[in-house]
Amino acid sequence: MIEQLRKDFPLLQTHIDEQPLCYFDSAATTQKPQCVIDAVNKFYRQDNANVHRGAHTLSAAATTQYESVRNKLAQFLNVSQREIVWTKGATESLNLIAYGLSEKLNQNDVILISPLEHHANIVPWQQVAHRTGAKLELLPVSKQGILDLEASKTLISAKKPKILSICHASNALGNIHDIAALIQVAKQFDTITVIDGAQSLLHLRPDLSAMGCDFFVFSAHKALGPTGLGGLFGRYELLNSMPVYQTGGEMIERVSFSGTTFREAPGKFEPGTPNISGVIGFGAALDYLDAIDANTLAHHEASLYHYLVNALKKIDGISIWGDTERNIGVVSFTYKNEHHFDIATFLNTYGVAVRSGHHCTQPLMDHLSLQGTVRISLAFYNSYQDVDILIDALKNTIDMLEE
Ligand SMILES: Cc1ncc(COP(=O)(O)O)c(C=O)c1O
Repeated sequence: MIEQLRKDFPLLQTHIDEQPLCYFDSAATTQKPQCVIDAVNKFYRQDNANVHRGAHTLSAAATTQYESVRNKLAQFLNVSQREIVWTKGATESLNLIAYGLSEKLNQNDVILISPLEHHANIVPWQQVAHRTGAKLELLPVSKQGILDLEASKTLISAKKPKILSICHASNALGNIHDIAALIQVAKQFDTITVIDGAQSLLHLRPDLSAMGCDFFVFSAHKALGPTGLGGLFGRYELLNSMPVYQTGGEMIERVSFSGTTFREAPGKFEPGTPNISGVIGFGAALDYLDAIDANTLAHHEASLYHYLVNALKKIDGISIWGDTERNIGVVSFTYKNEHHFDIATFLNTYGVAVRSGHHCTQPLMDHLSLQGTVRISLAFYNSYQDVDILIDALKNTIDMLEE
């Protein structure tokens, strides 16, 4: 089945310097299936018009298509469509939420995040803390980079934070967090919970109603969709109670020089012409995912991940960071004192695409006393053959580096 699915991804059929591409950078962005490429193409060739504005046929059809994807996503996440806001991506979503919630913060209120966060889930809170006098504090994480769940629950109870913002899965290490357990504790103290789902949307397909979070952010491009699009879920009353983030056309009810009134959420957070083709392309990605059994993909990803980890563990000198028990399929490793960039560059000469560096998690790298790691990130379209090629390439790379 995976062999069949791989054929849906044109770029996976490609070669890098005459070597078949082995793409292991899906945590940065996933490859796109043909149906997503076709949907974007079809929109511009046959349906292009601006949404929400025109009485004409094309505009009405574009609006229907565009809004139907909001509905599709709401169903995918098991929430209401009025709770979905489109943004440029997870980064913009987190900025919007941090800005929106800043009004609720007072001096010395606690914002709790984890040391595992992507910069996008650190810096907006840092800025807000700076402006409001709130304190940014950290959940406990082991020297290996694993969140201590029990100690985290105790800390939440002790600190009673105003906001808890944490990733569902770490982009740097792949660790999956028991979000439901953390939310359950946070709810006892009316803590507002924000979940960075940039890495979990594709791999874990979360049911947000079951999870019980107040906010959840994502990027479409990390779940087979186009770049430049993402969004957020916000619990409606909370979402609607937040101030507008950016202003302009579309998000208003009435503008006059004596004042302006805004639409209800989600409209009030969507100023200007949206990323219509991106939304429509993402709709095709959601249809594609809906048509495949999620358990089959999860099972393939998990066994591929263990196959990879076992092979890496057999190579002397490799250290794997993070939680290898509960993981979305990301392996972050270092090899002795060799520079991560050198390893990734050598691997590239074998057609193996991995990422190296701090993965936008510099505080985590500091916590682990590392400069950076080599990151292999899997998706369901990776094969065992990809992993075999990677392991051979890595062994050759190590031989070269040791010469
Ligand atoms: C966990 C996590 N949060 C946030 C982001 C930011 O996403 P984007 O760059 O698509 O806005 C990323 C991107 O790598 C991520 O992995």
